[in-house]
Formats: sequence, C-alpha cells, structure tokens
Amino acid sequence: MVVTETISGLREQIARLRQSGKRIAFVPTMGNLHAGHVRLMQEARNHAQAVVASIYVNPLQFGQNEDFDSYPRTASHDKVALLSAGVDMLFKPAESEMCPRGREAQTVVEVPGLSNELCGAFRPGHFRGVTTVVNRLFNLVAPDVAVFGKKDYQQWLLVRLMTSDLGLPVEIIGVDTVREPDGLALSSRNNYLSPEERKTAPRLYEALCRLRDRVLREGMHLAAVEENAVIDLQSDGFRPDYVNVRRQSDLQLPGADDRKLVALAAAWLGQTRLIDNVEFELKS
Ligand code: PAF
Repeated sequence: MVVTETISGLREQIARLRQSGKRIAFVPTMGNLHAGHVRLMQEARNHAQAVVASIYVNPLQFGQNEDFDSYPRTASHDKVALLSAGVDMLFKPAESEMCPRGREAQTVVEVPGLSNELCGAFRPGHFRGVTTVVNRLFNLVAPDVAVFGKKDYQQWLLVRLMTSDLGLPVEIIGVDTVREPDGLALSSRNNYLSPEERKTAPRLYEALCRLRDRVLREGMHLAAVEENAVIDLQSDGFRPDYVNVRRQSDLQLPGADDRKLVALAAAWLGQTRLIDNVEFELKS
C-alpha cells in the first residue's frame, strides 16, 4: 500500500493509476477503522481496479464542544486494517494540506436546507464541514466512484446532493450498516461507551425496529410513533436528540403516496452520541 501525506504525492500516484487505465474508487474516513470501514473498502473493490482511502480527522465538522481533540487516532491499527482490506493507496494529509489558509479562511461548500435538519439541527455547521472536506477530497483524488456508509444516512444523501449540484463526475455508492451481533451499529464512537452503556446501546436499533413495525402495521401516524420511540429511549436511559421518519429519497417529510421511508434517530447515552437508522417500505 502506498501511503502519501502530501497533495503533490497523491497527485503523482493518482496520475500513475490513471496512466495504467485503472478505475479509481475512493473511501474517505476519519480513521479508527472497524469492520464497517473494511466493508466499505470491499465494496469499493467491486467498482474499481484501484482503491484509495483517506484518513483525516476533519476539524471543520466538529463543533466547539465536540470531541475533535479526543477523537481516537489509531494510525498503526488503521494501517493493518487497510492492508487486510487490500487498499492500494492511503492519503493521510495534515491539516496544513487540507486547510492551507487556515480553518476560518477555508472556502466552504454547503447544501442548504437539509444540512440544518435532523442531525444538522443539533450539530450546527457539522454537515458544512463534511461537504467542504469531501468536495476537497473529491477534487484531489478525482475518483470515479466513492463509497459511504448508510449508518450516516443524512451524510450519504448530502454528499449525493452536493456531487450532483456541483456536477462532479463521481458515482456515490451507499453501503448497508454493519452491526454487532446484538444489533448495535458499528461506529468509532462505540469505544466511548462504558460497559454498562454498551449493554444498553443496542436498544437504539431496537426502538427503530419497533417504530418501523408499528408504521408497517398501523400506518402513518408518524407524530405518535415518533413520540413513543422517544419515550421508550428515555426510559432506557437515552437522551434522544430526535427520532423521525422521513422519505428515503430526500429526507423530507413523507406524503401520503410515499412508500420508501427511513426512521432515523440520534440519542445520547452518557457522554456518547449514537446515531442509527432503519429503511423500510410500505406496501402499496
Ligand atoms: O464519515 C466520516 O468518517 C466523515 O464524515 C468523512 C466522510 C470522512 C468526512 O470527514
């Protein structure tokens, strides 16, 4: 695996891959890699002859009181994971490469509207930070395909909207969430959970599955089922930010004719914010 920390090194390597006629798939990450990331790399391999990953803990997507400083940085573990996933190239830039004129001066890319809803309503500026860095990475790597996890459902949609709005020639692939045997979605932030919280954590997914089953059984009394899920989570010891059912295509409120839906939630367990979602389809 070729590792490069500079834009000039990256461009040289990308040019080499292009000269040899290889299609390039790209998986951006913030490191602390787990089996969910490895699944993204495997999917990337299905779409291209060369897989490029990046590791960059992006300061632009963390709020002032969030965990940027404490976010786990596990370089040697990550290298092993990338090698075992057969990744061809790792781009691991320093902040000076990604924000050369400083964080405040960085040109931003923001998808209006949806960036400030759902998780965006609770993490102001988060998605602007995500789309800004993903756009920059897309410009630097110039991949044919990029792969994102559907655990971050809103991020996946926002990246698709940004790519389409900016006319970027990148196909965006979404990969289903990888879960622990008890249902907990894999996430780097699961490492923050105490043993007690870890036992409770799968109840977030269970609450979403119950919500889904209720909508499938009883139809779209969404406000009531969402409220019920919030109460369930609270009684399990979570502090929910939101539980909402939206349509899959654009994460807007579903209308009477919408069939493809997704239930999304974010909830705190102690000091850890967990997110999850469940896609489902109503019968016509
Ligand atoms: O999902 C992530 O790990 C990050 O949001 C991403 C896409 C790498 C952008 O920093």
